[in-house]
Amino acid sequence: MEDIAEFKRRNKCSRLVMIWAASTEIFLKQHAVHKTLATFEQAMRDNHKAIAPSMIYAYAALKSGVPFANGAPNLTVDIPALLQLANQNNLSICGKDFKTGQTLMKTIIAPGLKSRMLGLHGWYSTNILGNRDGEVLDDPDSFKTKEESKLSVLEYILQPEVYPQLYKDFSHVVRINYYPPRGDNKEGWDNIDIFGWLGYPMQIKIDFLCRDSILAAPIVLDLALFLDLAQRTGMKGVQEWLSFYFKSPQTAPGLYPEHDIFIQLMKLKNTLRHLRGEDLITHLGLEYYD
Ligand SMILES: NC(=O)c1ccc[n+]([C@@H]2O[C@H](COP(=O)([O-])OP(=O)(O)OC[C@H]3O[C@@H](n4cnc5c(N)ncnc54)[C@H](O)[C@@H]3O)[C@@H](O)[C@H]2O)c1
Repeated sequence: MEDIAEFKRRNKCSRLVMIWAASTEIFLKQHAVHKTLATFEQAMRDNHKAIAPSMIYAYAALKSGVPFANGAPNLTVDIPALLQLANQNNLSICGKDFKTGQTLMKTIIAPGLKSRMLGLHGWYSTNILGNRDGEVLDDPDSFKTKEESKLSVLEYILQPEVYPQLYKDFSHVVRINYYPPRGDNKEGWDNIDIFGWLGYPMQIKIDFLCRDSILAAPIVLDLALFLDLAQRTGMKGVQEWLSFYFKSPQTAPGLYPEHDIFIQLMKLKNTLRHLRGEDLITHLGLEYYD
């Protein structure tokens, strides 16, 4: 907390935001010590194994009056204790895991398939990546955190419980392979087995030759501006309208995360319009025909 105060003073800042962009941590489930601020603080004093480093950074930010966004798939602020602290101090939080490469493509393609009621037998995704993130994700415990974040998007978008004939029991596999020669130039390869009218099978292949950091950096900049805006307009707690930027959006307890990028974008735009006091976008357009 002293570091935060010193940073603010030295750089003559009137407001700060903190965005976590450090390595993916090993997989952690919510633990009893995460339930309340009191149990969380005691666990920090006890150096409890359920307290991850990112949680300590987030705690320091929220204690210092700084809103916090989580760019990695770790739990971090997605626990009741830190949500309680954010609400108590009127601070905004959001996360998790920047949506930049393969999952971005997934949340663009899947809503389109569903809109045309094209069925899905399976979606196989693999990545080769040679930067430090790729090296960290080669560790099975860290990959487990990432895998959880990457796997859920299709289930939520395709709603197999509503469309069992099209989307029940599709196979979804995600792999990340550390391959040093590629450095930051990630290759995200997808094979999608779909079926159309009369059950006729078809395939889609995506080969996304992307640049990991070029895709992530603008998200960090947007989030810094929008988190600060949320703070200035008095929006506290989980900022679900920023789910557009995340693979695994944090929501209010009990709500399901929206993964469809087009709905996320509409939510973002409408929230900004709402903050400016403008009419919301409905796309009805009936007034043109009055
Ligand atoms: N396209 C993307 O780049 C992208 C997309 C989604 C999510 N992410 C996530 O963002 C995070 C950063 O990705 P990256 O490619 O910049 O990784 P990176 O390995 O290049 O950088 C991570 C940095 O975190 C530092 N670090 C590790 N543990 C720390 C700790 N406990 N305290 C402080 N610093 C610590 C490391 O020293 C390193 O400098 C990862 O969790 C990654 O999964 C990145």
